[in-house]
Amino acid sequence: MDFSLSPEQKEMYDLAIKFAKNEMIPFAAEYDEEGTFCEKQIKKAWELGFVNTCIPEKFGGNGFTLLDAVTIGEALSYGCMGMYTSIMCNDLALTPIVVGGSDEQKEKFLRPFTESPKLASFCLTEPGNGSDAAGIKTTIKDGGDHWILNGQKMWITNGGYADLFTVYCTTDPELKHKGICALVVDAKSEGVSIGNKEDKMGQRTSDTRAIQFENVKVPKENMLGSPGDGWKIAMKTLDHSRPLVSSIALGGSQRALDLASQYAKERIQFNVPIAKHQAIQFMLAEMQMKIEAARLLIQKAAWQADQGIQNTIAASSAKAFAADTCMQITTDAVQIYGGYGYSKEYPVEKLMRDAKLIQIYEGTSQIQRLVISREVLK
Ligand code: CAA
Repeated sequence: MDFSLSPEQKEMYDLAIKFAKNEMIPFAAEYDEEGTFCEKQIKKAWELGFVNTCIPEKFGGNGFTLLDAVTIGEALSYGCMGMYTSIMCNDLALTPIVVGGSDEQKEKFLRPFTESPKLASFCLTEPGNGSDAAGIKTTIKDGGDHWILNGQKMWITNGGYADLFTVYCTTDPELKHKGICALVVDAKSEGVSIGNKEDKMGQRTSDTRAIQFENVKVPKENMLGSPGDGWKIAMKTLDHSRPLVSSIALGGSQRALDLASQYAKERIQFNVPIAKHQAIQFMLAEMQMKIEAARLLIQKAAWQADQGIQNTIAASSAKAFAADTCMQITTDAVQIYGGYGYSKEYPVEKLMRDAKLIQIYEGTSQIQRLVISREVLK
């Protein structure tokens, strides 16, 4: 076994962490306060090759492995978890095309993303169906030479800026997961309407919206696979994207530990830096242990995917563990900062707010446990 990053991965990590420190951290608080979308950072990240890591080389991509992608993801999330959510969103939205599309569809839909910094959104969740993804109500009907799409999606990342949506819909809600289809939809199609940006607790730079589809005509050739294939495409996509989302939690956790340990060395109480007190030392040690464990789980989940091994248990374990760890670590970082930590003048309260979302999106921490236990009991 070799736990070290390759020289190329190390180089990518160094480039990404430099980008995080110079181009993300200086803007993070202001974007959070104003809810400003991180368009500038996405464009620069795209120029550095950090966007669309899932696109195969054959279709113009960089040929990154998932292990490369989570390494970059950790570094960029160190800069800002919300910004990286928007940066990695194309991976979530385009992976269904990589997983379920024909070569012709891949060429047509993926190539444009390698030529300019376009955005895409993954449209699964609905107002009435989040955890119960197979219960979605968005429908398609056969309209002859096209499909007719009707329904509403909710909590769609980058929804207001996307050029393309991968939309999950059903031929018949009664069929549950067996009726689900995956469609590639041009965001400018007639009948698509985009809701207002959600006013979120954390990750406020990322753009989150509801999207309505009203009698939208979608070309027949935009379906990935056949009717009913959508569910497996969605599940495989989530197996691929959950390690990436876990890397958001990892980067945020590492940032919280670095800030908390630095502060602990500076803050004097009882005539010594608080880092001299065992109560603080134990909190820092706990953070370090969990970060290391999360990193190993994420790397294993990514490595398995790269080897073509089904990574469902590792991906869900990484997601639940990294997300819960990030919540704990960012909360403890606020605790170590004390009253200052609770103030918006210091960066740790934002980390705590940003962390909360990772326990919710891409399958809650409870859903990950459900996925793991089902696999264990199989
Ligand atoms: N790979 C391949 N097949 C899979 C699979 C996987 N990982 N997981 C399940 N399946 C298959 C099962 O084997 C089963 O197949 P058969 O019909 O052949 O038996 C079929 O799919 C149905 O599976 P389940 O019975 O497990 O389905 P379920 O309805 O009970 O629910 C669930 C499963 C795992 C809870 C699923 O609903 C789920 O993942 N929910 C969470 C949804 C989610 O993560 N949403 C996040 C949206 S993305 C997001 O947040 C976006 C953002 O912008 C950041």
